[in-house]
Amino acid sequence: MSVPGKAPIKVVLTGAAGQIAYSLLPKLLDGSVFGADQPVFLGLLDIQPSMTMLGGVIMELEDLAYPCYAGSVGTTDPAVAFKDADVCVFLGAFPRKEGMERKDVMGMNVKIFNEQGAAVAAHAKPTVKCLVVGNPANTNAAILLSAMGGKIPAKNVTALTRLDHNRATSQLAMKAGVAMTDVAGVFIWGNHSSTQYPDVRHATVKGTPALSVVDAAWLEGEFITKVQKRGAAIIEARKLSSAMSAAVAIADHLRDWIKGTNGRAVSMAIFQSEGAYGVDSDICYSFPVTCDQGEWTIVMGLPIDAFSKTRMDATHKELKEERALAEELIKPVAIN
Ligand code: NAD
Ligand code: LMR
Repeated sequence: MSVPGKAPIKVVLTGAAGQIAYSLLPKLLDGSVFGADQPVFLGLLDIQPSMTMLGGVIMELEDLAYPCYAGSVGTTDPAVAFKDADVCVFLGAFPRKEGMERKDVMGMNVKIFNEQGAAVAAHAKPTVKCLVVGNPANTNAAILLSAMGGKIPAKNVTALTRLDHNRATSQLAMKAGVAMTDVAGVFIWGNHSSTQYPDVRHATVKGTPALSVVDAAWLEGEFITKVQKRGAAIIEARKLSSAMSAAVAIADHLRDWIKGTNGRAVSMAIFQSEGAYGVDSDICYSFPVTCDQGEWTIVMGLPIDAFSKTRMDATHKELKEERALAEELIKPVAIN
């Protein structure tokens, strides 16, 4: 397909026939994430039982008639999908069902990420940017990175906590009765799980500290629990996990990472090697970051009080345990 302007970038979605991909694909092609002058070629990876569905999705991509669409390849072969990829979004995973914790799906999902990490390292561009969404997202990202064997820099592998960030910002704005844009400085620390810590201690509402505007008991109780359990509440109501809001959060994460945040801090789960806020370097932990020219930087020097420290440590502990369990699950079985 001939598209005017710049050379196309290749954006890969795994789980491309799934429900998040269905909401995400138009956003990747409408110019809001990569730029209105940036053509996008899509690598669409899924498994054999979803191929007929994926064929229908590709027909709809054509029918959008978006100028940024530079074509696509739908495939079950990771080598084809990841070849020369610039950006990969990992959606392909078994989704959590009602009553399950995210780590309950770990056995099914870490194996997928172990295989795909090796395939990305072998076939994608060495500069590829990766965003893991399939749950347990942070630990899948850790498995993906370790399977890449050092071929892709750790700073290029991230997991999605922007959905939690958006949920927390929205809850605070609704409680304060202000516009979303009046709230700043809400961050997610740690795991995309029910141990995550949505932190409002540095947040402001119309420039005033949130803790002096909104009832502190609510902020330290119901608010935290609501954000932590929002994914489960949506599954209970929809009998499906969140998709529309997840797709928007993915677009937010990618746009901010690539185009920059203009000094505004957002939440991203990342690997860092400086022991920032006492976090281990081999776990994918959500921090407040700013982004500029395609690179994130952790917001350092935030004062952490005892209330926050307890919660940041709890989610750190869970991530260490999840990583150990995931490594156990992908260990080759010894045959005598
Ligand atoms: P879905 O079941 O609708 O789609 C998943 C797709 O992945 C399916 O098309 C399936 O065929 C495919 N798939 C399965 N195994 C694959 C493999 N090995 N390779 C490639 N594709 C494979 O699920 P969904 O609702 O789109 O959710 C996708 C994932 O995102 C789930 O793990 C869900 O729990 C997670 N999720 C994460 C967040 C977050 O904030 N991190 C938010 C919402 C959902
Ligand atoms: C969410 O937070 O909505 C998703 O991670 C779905 C889930 O598995 O909880």
